[in-house]
Amino acid sequence: MLTVVDHPLAGHLLASLRDRDTGPARFRALARQLTVSLILEATRDLPTRPRVVATPLEQTEGREISAGLVAVPILRAGLGMLDAVTDAFPDVGVGYVGLERDERTLRPRTYYEKLPPLEGKHALLLDPMLATGGSAVAATRSIAAGRPESLRMVCVVAAPEGVRAMEEAHPEVPIFTAALDRELNERGYILPGIGDFGDRLYGTGPGSA
Ligand code: PRP
Ligand code: URA
Repeated sequence: MLTVVDHPLAGHLLASLRDRDTGPARFRALARQLTVSLILEATRDLPTRPRVVATPLEQTEGREISAGLVAVPILRAGLGMLDAVTDAFPDVGVGYVGLERDERTLRPRTYYEKLPPLEGKHALLLDPMLATGGSAVAATRSIAAGRPESLRMVCVVAAPEGVRAMEEAHPEVPIFTAALDRELNERGYILPGIGDFGDRLYGTGPGSA
């Protein structure tokens, strides 16, 4: 199931992320801010339990999150979303999946994987770009092997091709995104898209210093 988070703030931040004149420092800040609004939506149904608290005036019943949470960013670009998650959920466990798309075949190649125990945990897969879906499908396969209680994917922009690939391979994984874009170009880039998210995040694109 795809959820497009269409909050005005998310739209505002996304427009600046798309802007080709946004440099790496601002790009990183925007990615982090936008991720906050996405994870709020993605974690809406996390289990909580009652917690009695004493306010300065009286005792009342509050809630606390009872779920064990694990975030898994896909390297590199998913790292741009991680700080937002660790800020919001300081006790979150973090695993990493390193995947790189072959520029010619567009197939992902795994070069690193370190996942904490996932059984009974609620997992959040973080990757800003869901393009062909190859990377997300491969990372989901790795995470699902650890038998988490639930798994959801959070991305910044999704292409219809990537959403289809995920729905075919892992229909049980809900996807949360700030935008569903039009299509992929012949090089597998999302249109209108953001460009190469990892390069923009770390200033490693063509012509960068
Ligand atoms: C980008 C992006 C995704 C992947 C999406 O990573 O961050 O992981 O492409 O494409 P897909 O849906 O077609 O698999 P990239 O391979 O460019 O590596 P990077 O993050 O290290 O730059
Ligand atoms: N990866 C990116 O960084 N951008 C795209 O548009 C597609 C894949």
